[in-house]
Amino acid sequence: MLLDTYGRVATDLRVSLTDRCNLRCTYCMPEEGLQWLAKPELLTDDEIVRLVRIAVTELGITEVRFTGGEPLLRPGVVGIVERCAALEPRPQLSLTTNGIGLARTAEALRDAGLDRVNVSLDTLRPEVFQRLTRRKRHDDVIAGLRAARDAGLTPVKINSVLMRGLNDDEAPALLAWALENDYELRFIEQMPLDAQHGWQRANMVTAEEILRQLTAHFTLAPEESSVRGSAPAERWLVNGGPAKVGVIASVTRPFCRACDRTRLTADGQVRNCLFAREESDLRTALRSGEPDSRLAELWRAAMWGKKAGSGLDDPSFLQPQRPMSAIGG
Ligand SMILES: C[S@@+](CC[C@H](N)C(=O)[O-])C[C@H]1O[C@@H](n2cnc3c(N)ncnc32)[C@H](O)[C@@H]1O
Repeated sequence: MLLDTYGRVATDLRVSLTDRCNLRCTYCMPEEGLQWLAKPELLTDDEIVRLVRIAVTELGITEVRFTGGEPLLRPGVVGIVERCAALEPRPQLSLTTNGIGLARTAEALRDAGLDRVNVSLDTLRPEVFQRLTRRKRHDDVIAGLRAARDAGLTPVKINSVLMRGLNDDEAPALLAWALENDYELRFIEQMPLDAQHGWQRANMVTAEEILRQLTAHFTLAPEESSVRGSAPAERWLVNGGPAKVGVIASVTRPFCRACDRTRLTADGQVRNCLFAREESDLRTALRSGEPDSRLAELWRAAMWGKKAGSGLDDPSFLQPQRPMSAIGG
């Protein structure tokens, strides 16, 4: 079990398959991209599957989410999913993607055992998409979403980040479109995890503001009376349900107290929090021939030291050295 000193137990593993991405979202990375990890630094497919196996069989992980960077850029993604789906006990498997290439791979991913996808889409306007991501790929994302739904990778969730002056007026339109197309929309507050350190609290579109926009057009009722559990998204039933909308208020209403996550970067470092400033090196131990039991012990030790909170509310908050794309979002 992955326990920390505050009594939290991690059961949800985020695995980054690559730090590379084919978009350049302004809230994530600069136009020119980043210094990518060199191939020898990346875990191989076998190494990833071994670590996921240890997490599932020895550490109590029940859910595995593949992410990145853009996980669909990893050539072995379907094989990795297939091998993780064969583990006993079988974990829930999902993938967070920008949707580019999903139209081609959705069925293969489903056949390999993927349960669900989250697709990131911040705008319905192709020209805004191009300004926000610096790429002309809006059509590909829409096609990817449709393919995921048709392949049964459901519920297909959409992650949207609102940016001041770009798409901050789009919450109601995004929700209306998501309802029409049977996608479950969640808004994510912009977090200070961009490589260029451009995040400013005053500029952030808050959960409160998003909810204000939505309630001008829809009736929202909290999904559960009080229990949010470890789910990062607070969810509301829309117009009486069953459709829902979520808001992940990582900055203004953090959910650290109920956090059940652990993370593995594409270069084999365990992180106990998205905002942690320390990592634990499993790759070196793995490549120096340590047995599963020792890797599990290192992972347990990494989680034991998890801090109470992300520290975002502390004036001395320092951004982690690595940006979101390198950690795995
Ligand atoms: C880092 S991406 C990785 C997976 C994949 N490339 C994608 O686009 O979904 C995961 C999620 O993090 C979100 N994200 C990236 N930078 C962010 C930031 N600074 N604040 C909030 N969300 C962010 C993206 O919008 C996306 O929904």
